[in-house]
Amino acid sequence: MTGSPLSGSAFTLAGKTALITGGAAGIGLATARRFIEAGARVILLDRYPAAVGGAAADLGTSALAITADVTDAAQVDAAVDRAQQAFGGIDILVNSAGLSLREATLETDIDTWNRVVDVNMTALFIVSRAVARQMLAAGHGGAIINLASIMGLSGGSLYPNLSYHATKGAVVNMTRALAVEWGAQGIRVNAVAPTWVRTAFIGAMADDPDLMARIAATMPLGRIAEADEVALAILFLAGPGAAMITGHTLPVDGGFLAR
Ligand SMILES: NC(=O)c1ccc[n+]([C@@H]2O[C@H](COP(=O)([O-])OP(=O)(O)OC[C@H]3O[C@@H](n4cnc5c(N)ncnc54)[C@H](O)[C@@H]3O)[C@@H](O)[C@H]2O)c1
Repeated sequence: MTGSPLSGSAFTLAGKTALITGGAAGIGLATARRFIEAGARVILLDRYPAAVGGAAADLGTSALAITADVTDAAQVDAAVDRAQQAFGGIDILVNSAGLSLREATLETDIDTWNRVVDVNMTALFIVSRAVARQMLAAGHGGAIINLASIMGLSGGSLYPNLSYHATKGAVVNMTRALAVEWGAQGIRVNAVAPTWVRTAFIGAMADDPDLMARIAATMPLGRIAEADEVALAILFLAGPGAAMITGHTLPVDGGFLAR
């Protein structure tokens, strides 16, 4: 790292091992790049072997790919065991896997609702439980960073998306509750709440210039975020510079929530 003498110590992850769900793409992958730059080894956990294997190969020898569906507790428990065997204990967990199925509430069926709840909320419980078991047994503490959203801290602006608002709101309060539960054992739990971020997640919206312009206009900074801008906030929360911060959700939102 370059910059002030403080930046090296505040942002270093030297000797740490991080597990990143949703690590094959978007914010998870950008976070993996920053973590490796800061000296960590990373385990990318994602659904599809080719995608996660390719992403890890691009990152080099500091990265390991593990295929698992975060909604499947047996797969996740096995994946976390494998990660421990390969890289030793896990010091940092980033819960980045997520799903948005944007629909008006009256058009949303229960299966759609349940899929979003499973990926955004229940999986956060499943993965955090599996990794915290290891962290607590090792007794070295740790850091967990969850992906919330501005949609977990507001009712939105341009279109309805109730299942996403509900589950990202849950991420904000699960972050608080886990911070309280595990704080005495030295595990810090925080979240970031991004605005729209330029990744595959926003899908076809990116091809609609009119909608993108209206979205950008909701941000005081006048634009959506890049994945790396979210990764830098996650890097801060993961590292020694955030040693006294837990239970907090940090918006990375270009001022959306300040309006
Ligand atoms: N992109 C945005 O505009 C935005 C804004 C706010 C919050 N977020 C949140 O940030 C997180 C990451 O989003 P992104 O933009 O990087 O998305 P992305 O689509 O680029 O990447 C998400 C990754 O999660 C993986 N994934 C999804 N379901 C999974 C499952 N069941 N098991 C394992 N892996 C699974 C996908 O395969 C993909 O690689 C999500 O939680 C999302 O809700 C995104």
